[in-house]
Amino acid sequence: MISRNHFAELSRDWTRLGLEDPLWAVCVDPARRGGRWQLDDFLATGRAEITEVMLRLDQLGLCQSRMSALDFGCGVGRLTTALSVHFESVIGVDIAPSMIEHAQRLHSATGCAFKVNDRPDLSSFSDRSFDLVYSSLVLQHMPPALADSYIREFVRVVRPGGAIVLVVPETHRRTARGLVYAHVSRRLIRWIQVALFRYPAPMRMEAVPTSRIANVTGGGGAHIVASDPQLIPGCHWRMLRHYVGVTPLDRRSPGLAASPGVNSTELR
Ligand SMILES: C[S@@+](CC[C@H](N)C(=O)[O-])C[C@H]1O[C@@H](n2cnc3c(N)ncnc32)[C@H](O)[C@@H]1O
Repeated sequence: MISRNHFAELSRDWTRLGLEDPLWAVCVDPARRGGRWQLDDFLATGRAEITEVMLRLDQLGLCQSRMSALDFGCGVGRLTTALSVHFESVIGVDIAPSMIEHAQRLHSATGCAFKVNDRPDLSSFSDRSFDLVYSSLVLQHMPPALADSYIREFVRVVRPGGAIVLVVPETHRRTARGLVYAHVSRRLIRWIQVALFRYPAPMRMEAVPTSRIANVTGGGGAHIVASDPQLIPGCHWRMLRHYVGVTPLDRRSPGLAASPGVNSTELR
């Protein structure tokens, strides 16, 4: 179960980050704090990431139908708009209304749709709605139970034969800051981020181990096909990009043939 307070805190923190320094909050780089990301450079990082991902999907033989994609935790649409070059329709969802407002303003000419999803599930989407669910740098910012429940939802909303791509930290690196994240209480980290580092709001960080993703996806007819290391300069986490294939129905074992929908995560 997810605590209502934790969910509200997540929404409040990211709304504040989106209001005060949205591009930096999406791609944290100390040199770009305070509005110092150039928009063109920022969007170019998204195009480069998606070009690489599409090539890798082809190489792995995944997600051959390219009708629709969901960008979960889309922020200001850095990756949503890059995905729209490869898919007929793309929708970006985010918990923070401030991020969605920026995305709508920045990408009004692209045909992408952007929507606030302030729920612990994806109940506004029916089963098997997308060929791809993409989520980059999102699931680490929330309580693990909530991340797991979204991953179950990704499996539900992807069509058989489609794919889920997740960019997440496997574990902390042995840098000074990485060790702080690993050993200091979450409350103290929140305080350090705001009082010492002057973040506009705290940014929760949790590892998302591969074993957990494998457990969560396994029951729904999905499996991890590849996990590629991502080298992000100055990052205190060991990042992986996971390619999860959702098995076509004709290749599933009888027990998995009907992948049941999941229940919404309960808020308490
Ligand atoms: C580091 S940013 C990454 C944005 C985007 N994926 C990118 O890479 O350009 C993390 C994003 O996740 C969003 N987020 C955090 N928790 C979320 C949730 N429960 N549901 C949807 N979005 C969430 C935040 O509002 C923020 O926009």
